[in-house]
Amino acid sequence: MASVPSLASTVQQRLAEGLSAALPEAGSADPLLRRSDRADFQANGILALAKQLKGNPRELATKVVEAIPANDVLQVIEVSGPGFLNITVSDAAIVNTLAARAADARLGVPFNEAAGTTVIDYAQPNVAKEMHVGHLRSAVIGAAMVEILEFTGEQVVRRHHIGDWGTQFGMLIQYLIEHPHELDHKAEGAGAEVSGEEAMSNLNRLYKASRALFDSDEEFKTRARARVVDLQAGDEQTLALWQRFVDESKIYFYSVFEKLDMDIRDPDIVGESGYNDMLQETCRILEESGVAVRSEGALCVFFDDIKGPEGNPVPLIVQKSDGGFGYAATDLSAIRDRVQNLKASTLLYVVDARQSLHFKMVFETARRAGWLNDEVKAHQLAFGTVLGKDGKPFKTREGETVRLVDLLDEAVERASAVVREKAQDLSEEEIAERGAQVGIGAVKYADLSTSAARDYKFDLDQMVSLNGDTSVYLQYAYARIQSILRKAGDARPAAHPELALAASERALGLHLDSFGEVIQETAEEFAPHKLAAYLYQLASLYTTFYSECPVLKADTPEQVENRLFLCDLTARTLHQGMALLGIRTPERL
Ligand code: ARG
Repeated sequence: MASVPSLASTVQQRLAEGLSAALPEAGSADPLLRRSDRADFQANGILALAKQLKGNPRELATKVVEAIPANDVLQVIEVSGPGFLNITVSDAAIVNTLAARAADARLGVPFNEAAGTTVIDYAQPNVAKEMHVGHLRSAVIGAAMVEILEFTGEQVVRRHHIGDWGTQFGMLIQYLIEHPHELDHKAEGAGAEVSGEEAMSNLNRLYKASRALFDSDEEFKTRARARVVDLQAGDEQTLALWQRFVDESKIYFYSVFEKLDMDIRDPDIVGESGYNDMLQETCRILEESGVAVRSEGALCVFFDDIKGPEGNPVPLIVQKSDGGFGYAATDLSAIRDRVQNLKASTLLYVVDARQSLHFKMVFETARRAGWLNDEVKAHQLAFGTVLGKDGKPFKTREGETVRLVDLLDEAVERASAVVREKAQDLSEEEIAERGAQVGIGAVKYADLSTSAARDYKFDLDQMVSLNGDTSVYLQYAYARIQSILRKAGDARPAAHPELALAASERALGLHLDSFGEVIQETAEEFAPHKLAAYLYQLASLYTTFYSECPVLKADTPEQVENRLFLCDLTARTLHQGMALLGIRTPERL
């Protein structure tokens, strides 16, 4: 496994060397290299430098060019405009660097030397509740970040902070005690499997029935409240019933995650209840250190810059005046656990932007307590709202939140229709399998391809379209390449650096070469949409290449091999990139 420096970094380095040789007084100035339409790269750094050195930029640029020794990477360096450098690399350099990538299982992408441990909090549905589109975003974005960070060499610990604690369990458990068969399954017995749907419909029914009773029957309400006290006191029978709700919910969660083609592991599910033992101590530490203070009986943390509409300070309430703990106490305890026991250097929270104020206060509190500092950082990867086609928050016609499973089923159905239409030699079974891969891929890609912070419209027609920025387009590009490789017969992909490249081959090649940089940026900025944009551009550049350059019918056997080589590396890069986003690349479509 050898990491391969990109041409951009090689060029950058040669220019930097030329700069410091020609203008030692400039120190280690940045040549400011970027990709360019005029040439392969353009460097603008000399302009600012000339200002600083009070020199003529074109003259300085010429001196820099002269100071760069002849080499086989930089083919042409031209001074242009007021003092830019336009740089063209040689065709051989492009093919050679790609050959080095092709020889490496990681496509030459380096590991991050400064890798640490990231604990990522994502895919956190709530017990006894249906999963909706908001849970989709956290799961999809979180899973992509897990893969991307692990690919860079980061140690990743997954945490599914499910909502499995709170006063609502008093009502649920009390109802189950009074209606003991409500969670029984139709198909009971050895080996009988309960479907996620059945589990959820049981829970739904129970939730509605107990809520109705709670709202209408004062005596039930009193019994339910007493049950909360039993639960918090750790009463065995109460806890056992609570566990049944959690287990039943997990059957449902797993069925949805499976549909989403996501790998969720049981030990990583550490819900709110997992921090119960720490809550008391968290409060004690915060109070003793003066980070939190008692205010009207409640334990609160105040902030200078966080005020309510009336201008009064809005505190973070760590413990309520009745002694109860809430969401904040749990999150603060989870931070202690993740920093002190899991040894995290980064805490990443993939949570709805509507919880940003909560996390801002929680992080600031943790900093004051010393749990977070310059070595241990926390970041909320906040995501926006999923909107309906009309641009309003996504609701059913009846005004209810949309069930995630219904959306996924519909996406798979639509995608299957698209696959069927295009399918030439696919069996029914294959159409069903591809339909799921295309449909779920479409949903994930739509979610990942816009920057997470933005709201987006859930538009299935657009998502499963073959044209435009969709996963289907990427999957077809991949499958088309596989089909060419199958048709190639005895011809094998092989790099031929001696050949001259067409413009579209160069553009494709340079883009392939920048994969590692995109991975690094995506990981550093927690921005999966950058990887998605890269892949879309890769597929587009491939489409242009394919329409301009015959592959199997190229002029010479060497050219056939070299183009097959470009096809193959494109496919491998697409496959790797899509896998990091959690999207399948079927070999045939
Ligand atoms: N269960 C919460 C919800 O559905 C999300 C939990 C986010 N994570 C956290 N550590 N607070 O909104």
